[in-house]
Amino acid sequence: MVTCSAPGKIYVFGEHAVVYGESAICCAIDIRTRVNAEPSESVEIESVLGKTGIDYDIHPYVSNVIERIREIVPIKGVSIKIDSDLPVGSGLGSSAAVTIATIQTLNYLFGCKLSLEDIANLGYEVERKVQGAASPTDTYVSTVGGVVMIPERRKLKLIECGIVIGDTKTFSSTKKLVANVAELRESYPEIIIPLLSTIGEMSHIGEEMVNKRDYTLVGNLMNVNHGLLDAIGVGSPELSLLVYAARKKGALGAKITGAGGGGCMVALIDVDGNRGVADAIIDSGGNAIITKATEHGVILESDI
Ligand code: MEV
Repeated sequence: MVTCSAPGKIYVFGEHAVVYGESAICCAIDIRTRVNAEPSESVEIESVLGKTGIDYDIHPYVSNVIERIREIVPIKGVSIKIDSDLPVGSGLGSSAAVTIATIQTLNYLFGCKLSLEDIANLGYEVERKVQGAASPTDTYVSTVGGVVMIPERRKLKLIECGIVIGDTKTFSSTKKLVANVAELRESYPEIIIPLLSTIGEMSHIGEEMVNKRDYTLVGNLMNVNHGLLDAIGVGSPELSLLVYAARKKGALGAKITGAGGGGCMVALIDVDGNRGVADAIIDSGGNAIITKATEHGVILESDI
């Protein structure tokens, strides 16, 4: 029986701009999805969504991974159990984490000899197949962990301050938000294109600050990035409520993370910061998760 886990991620800077080739900084967070598998007579997939066989509606990511692994090695059956601490569909990379953890679990269990690069690429193909469109960011960061400059795939120094995620508990469609930004960009190119490239530039300036571990300056720039995300139409009243509540309680910086429109925001806090920011998020109607950056991408948890 093999168990592997993979992390979720936040965007420190650069969501949406990255769709147009601009740079982004992403950070793997210590909130993980674990996948446990053992050989079996048939395919069984078990999660909070239910217990199924190959099922492209209920378990699309895991079913597609099994299909792709079967092209590498013959698999008669496998029993898979998924257990995740990541809220689903809220911009923290939950689908990438389950995809990457499943690939690595089956890689160990059936001796597929996939490298980390193979895993990231296969994960991206699976996400693209399931979602129609996907950026390779989530699957790459979930595979390698740490803080990564995208699309350069350059590793930065690990972020050592505290991270608080605020979940608005409202859903949003990444596909729709990306399409809205595209429409806005087409309608007002002379305004929107410079905003997107300013966001990209922020990632370049932010890289130096992250590497100098100057989280006050990183936080200041995150606040500016939030304003620009609002300007391109991906904010929401719930997101701004949590962002401003976090800042008022002393967050170093706070912004939307992911596609926006709903989903999650992220705040940086002093390493020995208290629960103040998390409590302010809860008092403003959100769910709060206190976490930290992790250097661990996909890892083998146990092989017995
Ligand atoms: C969504 O988590 C991030 C976006 O930049 C889309 C993408 O990069 O695929 C909005």
